[in-house]
This record gives sequence, structure tokens and C-alpha cells, in this order.
Amino acid sequence: MIKTVEKQKVPLRGEITIPSDKSISHRAVMFSSIAEGNCIVSNFSSGADCHSTLNLFKNLGVDIQFIDNKTLKIKSNGVLVAPIKDFFTLDCGNSGTTMRLVSGILAGQSFNSILVGDESLSKRPMKRVIEPLSLMGANIESVDGHAPLKIKGIALKGIDYTSKLASAQVKSCILLAGLNAYGKTSFTEPYISRDHTERLFEYLGAEITRNNTIVTVSSSKLIAKDIQVVGDISSAAFFIVAGLIVKGADFIIKNVGLNLTRAGIIDVVKRMGGDISILNEQILSGEPVGDIRIKYTDSLKACVIEGEDIPRLIDELPVIAVLASQADGETIIRNAEDLRNKESDRIKCLVEELTKIGVDISETKDGFIVRGKKGLLKGNALLESYHDHRLAMSFYIAGLICEKEIGINGFEWTKISFPEFEELFQKLKV
Ligand code: S3P
Repeated sequence: MIKTVEKQKVPLRGEITIPSDKSISHRAVMFSSIAEGNCIVSNFSSGADCHSTLNLFKNLGVDIQFIDNKTLKIKSNGVLVAPIKDFFTLDCGNSGTTMRLVSGILAGQSFNSILVGDESLSKRPMKRVIEPLSLMGANIESVDGHAPLKIKGIALKGIDYTSKLASAQVKSCILLAGLNAYGKTSFTEPYISRDHTERLFEYLGAEITRNNTIVTVSSSKLIAKDIQVVGDISSAAFFIVAGLIVKGADFIIKNVGLNLTRAGIIDVVKRMGGDISILNEQILSGEPVGDIRIKYTDSLKACVIEGEDIPRLIDELPVIAVLASQADGETIIRNAEDLRNKESDRIKCLVEELTKIGVDISETKDGFIVRGKKGLLKGNALLESYHDHRLAMSFYIAGLICEKEIGINGFEWTKISFPEFEELFQKLKV
């Protein structure tokens, strides 16, 4: 589907509520499925990725019912069951989080399974989880490090693993395997990646300790407890950038998760001189949440984003490129080579597509450089989303400040994380 986006002529105003966090929604269903007891998960994501996780656990015998379209009732005795003796096939759709985290759960089960995904997911690297899981004794066959993953369930032993990559998916996979392994499992990463797994493990009673970039879990049972999922800062990011670059914008984004390990975009906006403020902070199910007031800022300045910043805003980098196009000077993104392994090669695709509408951006091995200057972009081009939800939404935001309209091919992929995206946008166009 081609979406046409025109220059935003009236200022964006009002108030919107950001829907559920994708990372936490995945974890809420996974962890409640392996926990003992009943619970309610409220504000569950409507994105297709989280529904892949939900269906997968239903197929493993967990009783998951919708009370309404955002509220789930999950009943589990903590035991997963496969309905067949042979390898049981489970579909992860487009979702890397599902495949990587669930492989950590399935490796130590007493049944065998095969994890499959769509074309894009089947091209994404899985060695990063297969290697450490194998050190724990897991038996996983892949197609040269890619899905399908054929997992023969086996008893696991704890390990002390140091990862070269700061990745919450790899960390969570190993911690989940560690919950069901003999002895202790420690995971060390170069910088702290999002810590939703650790927080939810603590909330659900796992034996877990944390020391800076080292997390250790012991074999333990999770105890079910109601979970309220906060709003997704990665979804809010599109609105934050729109608010900063659309002339006259001034609005409130409610219910945004503000976990420091995820909130790198807020620091970057402050570094760039953007007008952003946080209101009504509180804690929900172990996660900080608040409202964000964002205002158009006509004096944004460039900045460098690197090192420990990267895992804190990895998914926001495409839309940060759009923001940087309006900031005076050179914004440099470094140490973000893993962006090439997302739903698309986000470095190559972003640079190619934004160049078409007049952004001065160039590709580097591990990131990109944007030479920004306030003013309308030229537009007048058809951009390809490469089946990548975050690219499609980033291009939509760029379209709001283009002189001539743009087209975005594959806009329907926004359903992966944020089906409500356009509807929420319309609310601000008053
Ligand atoms: C996620 C972690 C990040 C992020 C992805 C969701 C998670 O991936 O890009 O969208 O929920 O743990 P990596 O761990 O591969 O960096």
C-alpha cells in the first residue's frame, strides 16, 4: 500500500495517549505463561509482533483469553506442553524478539520444537543466541545461523557469559534459559541494554541480582502477578520528533515508558536543544512512566550519538535521522552497526530513501552522518519502506516537512508495532 503524506499546514496540538510498549508486552505474555498462577495483563499491544508471541504460547497450552481488546487473562501452572511428540512448529512471524527470547525458553523444555519466521525474520542473525545457549548445553540446529531453529529440548546448565553486543534480546534469551538451568547464569554486556526482563523478573519473584552490566539469575519459578504495560517510548519517538520539527506544534504525549535504559531519545533531544518536558512521573508494574510535553523548536543543534547511547535508542535512530535534518550542523551516529540487522538494513535503506527527499545524509560502516539545516525538505519522491515498520513511520514524519508530497510504499507494515499510528496523528491535526 502506498501512503501519500503532505506537508503539515496547521500546527499539531492537543493530547494523545501512547499505546502499549512492544518489548514489555512480549515479556508480559512470555513470563506470565511460564509463571505459576493467574494474572491480568492490561494495556497489551495491538501490534502484530506481540500477537505472534501470544499465539505461540496459546499453542503451547497456555490459557490466554481476551477480556477486551487490550486486556488479557492468563492462567498457567508454569508448564508448557507441545501437542505432538515430534518437533512442534511455532511461528514467530516478523518478530525477532519472539524468536530470540522464546528460544531461551524452549531450549530447556522436555519437548522438541521448531521456530519459524517470515522471509525477513529468516534472514536475521540467530547465532547470537544459538552460541551462548549451546554453551548451556542446548541442542539447536539452524540454517547457517538463521531460522528455522530446530530445538531439541534438553536439561541446561548455568554459564557465565560475556557478550560483545549490548542486546536485550540476547540477554533476555540467556536469562530465560537460566531460570530453568542447573546452577547460576550470569550475563555481562558492554553497555546496559533495555532492562525490562530484569525488572519483570524482580517483580515476579525470580532470584536475580544486578551489578552494573552484569545480571545473574538462579534457577527459579516466576509467580504470576497482574501486569500493567506502560506506553511505548519507541512509538512516542515519532510524535516527539514531529512535535519538534512541525512549526507551531505544542502537545502532550501521555503514558510514555521512561525507563532510563530506553529513554536515550529524551537525552538526545535535550542535547539538541529541543523543548521537551516530563510531567506526572510514576511507577507501573516496576516501570517508570510519565507524560511528555513537546514543542516546536526552531534552533535545534547537531550532536554526536555513540557508545552507551546506542542501546538506549537503537530503534529510534531512523526517526532521529529525520530530526537531525533540521538541526544545525553535523549529527554523527557511531557504534550502531547492529542497525544493519534489524527488520531491514536500517543504515543503508534509511540513507538511500532520505537522500531521495533532499536530506544530506551519508552512510558509514557503523552508522550515518546527517548534515542538517532548518527548512523544508524537497520531497516529491516515492520512498520504499522495505517492509520495515520503523522506516515507514520515520518517512511519514519526514513527509510532514516536505515542500512537495511524498509516497511511502509498504506503509501497512506499521501494523507490526503501531497500528494506531495514523489515527493518533489525525487527533493532533486539529
Ligand atoms: C528489543 C531489543 C532490541 C530492539 C528490539 C526489541 C527487546 O533489539 O531493537 O526492537 O524487546 O529486547 P536487540 O536486543 O537486538 O538490540
